[in-house]
Amino acid sequence: MINDSPDRYGSVTRFFHWLVAVLVIQQFFKFADRIDEGKHWLGDTFGPYHVSIGAVIMLLAIFRLLWSIKQKNQRPAIESPYPKLAKAVHGIMYFCLIAMPPLGALYIHGHGYPVKVFGQVLIAKPAEKVQWAHDIGELHSILAFVLVFLVIGHITVALYHHFIRKDNTLRRMI
Ligand code: HEM
Ligand code: HEM
Repeated sequence: MINDSPDRYGSVTRFFHWLVAVLVIQQFFKFADRIDEGKHWLGDTFGPYHVSIGAVIMLLAIFRLLWSIKQKNQRPAIESPYPKLAKAVHGIMYFCLIAMPPLGALYIHGHGYPVKVFGQVLIAKPAEKVQWAHDIGELHSILAFVLVFLVIGHITVALYHHFIRKDNTLRRMI
């Protein structure tokens, strides 16, 4: 079934969820740039795709958010003693996925480099460093920490529902 129903997420929601999850987890390898002065193999392997994949994640997150709004009245109810907390965490994760790419672009622009997505120049190289863009762009790293913290919490809660509460929460997203 394409659409969500009260007892299961539909194929479109599940496809978006797992595709974005895999792409986001590989974006986290960028943290490896903090090791060995940026020479860690994880950062070297995934780093070159960081900007282009980040742009794809932003588009997927926007489509996914619009789709999720369309499914509002038919999707499964959150099975939690704290449904408002769960909703807030989902909302902040969406916010990070949509806000981080433009902030990353500002960071690169601020440093005086061109912003390229799949080899195409989206923002040309500025004549010199742009301090305000760099300063705002630093929020990218802060949101990266917020997101990784929430994703770890999100995965822990999903596994808790599955293995300890033994309810349907994880199964209906698979
Ligand atoms: C939602 C998609 C994205 C996620 C989840 C993400 C995640 C991350 C993470 C985890 C880091 C390491 C942060 C740190 O070590 O402090 C990082 C750094 C960085 N990201 Fe992204 N990123 C995304 C999209 C983008 C995009 C689209 C761009 C550029 C247009 C970008 C540019 C950068 C830059 C330049 C850094 C290095 C920043 C620094 O050294 O402080 N990111 N990102
Ligand atoms: C790594 C990046 C991930 C992100 C950004 C993410 C984000 C989200 C968001 C925003 C939702 C709300 C529903 C929606 O709008 O589609 C959701 C639901 C859900 N996610 Fe994730 N997720 C991630 C990874 C995972 C992983 C690895 C698991 C499993 C271990 C998981 C399990 C679930 C489950 C079970 C739900 C349904 C919750 C419910 O019905 O109450 N997610 N996720």
